Amino acid sequence: MTDKTVRLGVLGLGTVGAGTVKLLQDNAESIAAKTGARFTVVAASARDITKQRDCDLEGVTLTTDPFEVVNADVDVVVELIGGYDLARELALAAIQQGKHFVTANKALIAKHGNELFAEAEKTGALVAYEASVAGGIPVIKALREGLAGNEISQLAGIINGTTNFILTEMRDKGRDFADVLAEAQALGYAEADPTFDVGGIDAAHKLVILTSLAFGIPLNFDGAYIEGIEAITTEDVNLAGELGYKLKHLGIARQTEAGVEMRVHPALVPESHLIAKVDGVMNAVLVNGNFVGETLYYGPGAGAGPTASAVVADILDVARQLGSAKENTIANSGYTAGLSNAAEVLPAEAFNCEYYLKLSVQDESGALAQVTSVLADASVSIDAVVQHEPKGESACATLALITHEVNEAQLNTAIQALEGLDIVAGNVTRMRVASF
Ligand code: NDP
Ligand code: HSE
Repeated sequence: MTDKTVRLGVLGLGTVGAGTVKLLQDNAESIAAKTGARFTVVAASARDITKQRDCDLEGVTLTTDPFEVVNADVDVVVELIGGYDLARELALAAIQQGKHFVTANKALIAKHGNELFAEAEKTGALVAYEASVAGGIPVIKALREGLAGNEISQLAGIINGTTNFILTEMRDKGRDFADVLAEAQALGYAEADPTFDVGGIDAAHKLVILTSLAFGIPLNFDGAYIEGIEAITTEDVNLAGELGYKLKHLGIARQTEAGVEMRVHPALVPESHLIAKVDGVMNAVLVNGNFVGETLYYGPGAGAGPTASAVVADILDVARQLGSAKENTIANSGYTAGLSNAAEVLPAEAFNCEYYLKLSVQDESGALAQVTSVLADASVSIDAVVQHEPKGESACATLALITHEVNEAQLNTAIQALEGLDIVAGNVTRMRVASF
């Protein structure tokens, strides 16, 4: 028997919005059985309310003004529009009315989460954002609840489905970057502005949220080191393969004695590692806890169904907590005073990694010796090398090498010296090698 009705206002009826309404409708009976409540979308907004949507909107009051939905008689506002500014205003309006707020918007939480959580403290509103990271994978719940007893030392993984889909298709099918990106957009994986995906910003939004939850530090988007996949070439993908690696775009957060590393960038992942086998739109996050050891969370990182799954999980969680005293609810913010001994976010110069370097060198005797001599002078030692003879009209051979672990500032100095050699043409390509 269900006697409780939870009234929902949904902002946005695109990929995730329509997917969420559809899930609530299709699974209404099982959800009612599990929760003892009925979930009713009473109002929803979109820019174009005449557009056909992939869900039944009968009985739902539709409007082009999302603030009308926030101000309607709803218990929970579900924000599925995206972006920074409008979403912030809508979130504040909901929270200030004491309405609970569920979102899939990582941009909003990464940039404005600290402010929203502070407002929610005043009104008692719950703010839930499981769908903001890694699509359908309940990794926020895992960090907050499943691993709550652990001290987390590191998390790392593939947290953008669009870039993983692009890199997989480029490598496995030799497809063109722009062509695969267009397909990711058509499938509903990409952000409204897909440069957020390919430029690493979307992954950084997600990493900032995970880092705050894992290490208890405030959300700090400006502290994230961000590189996208724009500069990766098919040649790099192939050379990485020859050296025994797959190229992936990773988010990595690590607690060190000096501070917190928080970085997204392409990385060479050893082919035998589980993360190297995560392909297409799938995401995976490794989390190391001091008692549990290494854990791995895997699943679809984008798309209507998986993301709706996470949004609805939050809606149900919020519903379970309705009417609970604040101290009995799950904290909105990951910030936990005193949890991290070294909470400063470190600059890239402080990273220590193995690196992949690719150089074009004149095809003459002694060239390799000059390169290795410059690296040795900078105390950069080499682990592996492959060399390709000049192709076509080019007078240059391609040299790709993997270094042993070295400090990034030290490596940058070595790269400058390499680029100063007469036998080196153009810039040196540098990518990090992942160590988990
Ligand atoms: P869509 O672009 O598919 O949908 C956005 C919705 O918001 C549309 O219904 C659109 O209206 C409406 N909208 C857009 N701009 C405005 C505006 N200025 N005022 C009012 N309404 C507006 O986006 P997604 O569903 O893909 O993404 C929604 C959120 O979910 C984003 O924060 C995204 O980052 C996040 N997310 C998305 C995932 C995915 O796989 N797509 C996965 C995880 C998170 P209309 O339809 O009329 O244009
Ligand atoms: N654009 C995002 C991605 C959606 O491709 O991962 C899921 O957050």
